[in-house]
Formats: sequence, structure tokens, C-alpha cells
Amino acid sequence: MHVACIMDGNGRWAGRRGLPRTDGHTEGEENLARLVRVAVTRDIGWLTVFGFSTENWVRPRAEVRHILGLHHRLFGRLDELNELNVRVQWIGRPFDDPQARTPKYIQRAIRRAIADTAQNTGMLLTVAFDYGARQELIDAVRRVRGDGLDVTPAAIAEHLYLPELPPVDVLVRTSGELRVSNFLLWQSAGAAIHFTDTTWPDFDGAELDAALALVT
Ligand code: FPP
Repeated sequence: MHVACIMDGNGRWAGRRGLPRTDGHTEGEENLARLVRVAVTRDIGWLTVFGFSTENWVRPRAEVRHILGLHHRLFGRLDELNELNVRVQWIGRPFDDPQARTPKYIQRAIRRAIADTAQNTGMLLTVAFDYGARQELIDAVRRVRGDGLDVTPAAIAEHLYLPELPPVDVLVRTSGELRVSNFLLWQSAGAAIHFTDTTWPDFDGAELDAALALVT
């Protein structure tokens, strides 16, 4: 089972409490850590989350810096992830792409998390960082053509950023936004969608079970 989450509504969670938006993101990262603990107890082999999009760089600089810090923290939770037997992956624009802006300290944290959890055999947690589905598809088509192949569905699937990522079974979008996003567009063809008004920091095990109920 592959569950993919668009973790929306951190800003609104904070706003309702009279807190700065950054506090909402902090709580969003905490909640992701909590949800991973729950997810490993369910029949979920793959959990993929939208941490930072190719479009998110235009947010105010302080907010971007804060979200980057939270990724550093998440990728640094190695004791926890190893205890849960969770393997970490990353999906996004390659670091050597001329347009990529991922700072070196995040690159290092990502590489280290992947290496230090590579031996785990449980759930695969994939974090999308500097990710955009359209860019992924453009890159895939370019690579297919670069390899001198015909542009077919199979060829594109094999040239995505993470070709081994299975199709998404359930796509979750929190915070009452009834729309798709620039997230896993190829991989989500045919996925069930769980929309919920709950903001991401409040998305809990019961919500996850409601999403899973769509496909089990
Ligand atoms: C949407 O909330 C969420 C994001 C822009 C990014 C998701 C980031 C987190 C959940 C924090 C940490 C996550 C990781 C993986 C370290 P929003 O700001 O769009 O909320 P709003 O729509 O209410 O303004």
C-alpha cells in the first residue's frame, strides 16, 4: 500500500491559534514524526510526503529558512527511524540541476538519512523536497530521448526520479483544499483521494485509517 500526503494547512493551524505560520510548520513536522509511528503499525509499505515544492522557494525568506530547518530536523531523526525500521528516500529535482537550490546542509542531511537507514526493511518514507511533478515528467522525457528511446509510458516510468516507487493507492490532501497539486502526477493516476478539512498538524491515526478505508 502506497499512501501519499499533501500536508496542507500548517499556516491555518497556526493562524487559528494566533501563532506565527512558522509554528504551524514546526507542529507539521512533529505530526509527521507522530504519523510515521502510526503508519508502521498499518499495512503501509510506502509513505510519501510533500515536504517542499519547486514552487515553495518564493515564500518569504524567513519561512523558507524555517521549513528547511525542519527538513534538517526530520532527516536527522535517525535513531527514531532506525528504531521503527523505516527506510528514508528523497524525491526531487537532482541537486546538480542548474535550477536546483537545495542548500548543501540539506543535501548532506538527505544523503546521510538515506545511507544510515538503507539497511532497514520496513516502511519506505519518501520525502519530496524541491519536487514538482511537471518538472519530473519533463526531466523523464528528456532522459528517455537522451537514451535514444521512444517516448512510451514504460520508458517514462523507468526514467522518473524514483522509478521503483509504486503507484499511489491513496492520495491525502488536508485542510479542505479539494484540488490536486503538482505532486506525483504520473504515479497518482487511478489513486483514491482522501480529502479532509483537518489541518496537517491535527492529521492523526483515525484520519489515516479513514484514508486507508477507501482502498481496503
Ligand atoms: C502547507 O502548509 C505545507 C507546506 C508548505 C510544506 C509542508 C511542510 C511541513 C509539513 C513541515 C515540515 C515537513 C517536513 C517534511 C520536514 P501551508 O503553509 O500551505 O498552510 P496554509 O495553506 O494554511 O497557509
